[in-house]
Amino acid sequence: MKKTAFITGASAGIGKALAEVFAQNGFNLVLTARREDRLRELQKSIQDKFDVKVYPLPADLHNVEAPHELFDSIQSKGLQIDALVNNAGYSLPGSFHNTAWKDQAEFIQVLITSVAQFCHLFLPGMIKSGYGRIINVSSLSGILPGSAGFTLYSGAKSFVNQLSQTLFLETEGTGVNVTAICPGYTYTEFHDVNGMRESVNRLPSYMWMDAATVANQGFEAVMKGVPLYVNGATNRFFALLPKLLPNKRVLRMVDKSKADVGQL
Ligand SMILES: NC(=O)c1ccc[n+]([C@@H]2O[C@H](COP(=O)([O-])OP(=O)(O)OC[C@H]3O[C@@H](n4cnc5c(N)ncnc54)[C@H](OP(=O)(O)O)[C@@H]3O)[C@@H](O)[C@H]2O)c1
Repeated sequence: MKKTAFITGASAGIGKALAEVFAQNGFNLVLTARREDRLRELQKSIQDKFDVKVYPLPADLHNVEAPHELFDSIQSKGLQIDALVNNAGYSLPGSFHNTAWKDQAEFIQVLITSVAQFCHLFLPGMIKSGYGRIINVSSLSGILPGSAGFTLYSGAKSFVNQLSQTLFLETEGTGVNVTAICPGYTYTEFHDVNGMRESVNRLPSYMWMDAATVANQGFEAVMKGVPLYVNGATNRFFALLPKLLPNKRVLRMVDKSKADVGQL
């Protein structure tokens, strides 16, 4: 019997690429994001290419009820989720004290709370069946210090890294693998949504990866049981900086480069 993967933020970028990779590897898919038209287009293109079933379930993860409603809706279809991909995300530009709390609370809901809640909702079923794969899409920003103007982003991604590594330990021996993947700059809609496209276009090409490569590496990492995977040699080099240099120096370096080109 085919396994089923549930992927958040599947209407674009890394989530869409991960949907393709899971389908290519024989998983049926439950896909969520706000843009239903995009999910339906992806449903059609994947079902045309691969012998799998795709269920689009549009939802807005700003809504605190959304994770439970999605879980209930999946249960009511009689689907067992064997793989969970917490990928939906964005960054929120602007200084902390000038950004409305409503926007920051919604950001925390999508980037932190829903990630933890989906793990909490789907893990018991995975442990019971003796098989589970969880990819939490984090960022190189979760390893590097934060930068002014994107106040909550690095903290949210650090949380995702720590959550994933702790769940990796807690699920050892159960058949469940938990992996945080940490991409750096990746060609997606991310920098269009946060308004940084023009400045990030100035970055050299070696800083960039494509979403399909990030997705393939993420799939391999979770299948192998790697708890934390940094995508690409350039990003792995940057991830070493906090271990090699004094904190204040790294803080200034990261802040300057992100102020110049934008969040990753
Ligand atoms: N691109 C990069 O350089 C980069 C680097 C490191 C990490 N990341 C991480 O990679 C993940 C995917 O981002 P991406 O680069 O693929 O960006 P993207 O192309 O903008 O895709 C973001 C996805 O998240 C969904 N999403 C955003 N807000 C949502 C909400 N309120 N409710 C439901 N879904 C929502 C979007 O769907 P709808 O708009 O249809 O709802 C879309 O499918 C994020 O967690 C991001 O932090 C990206």
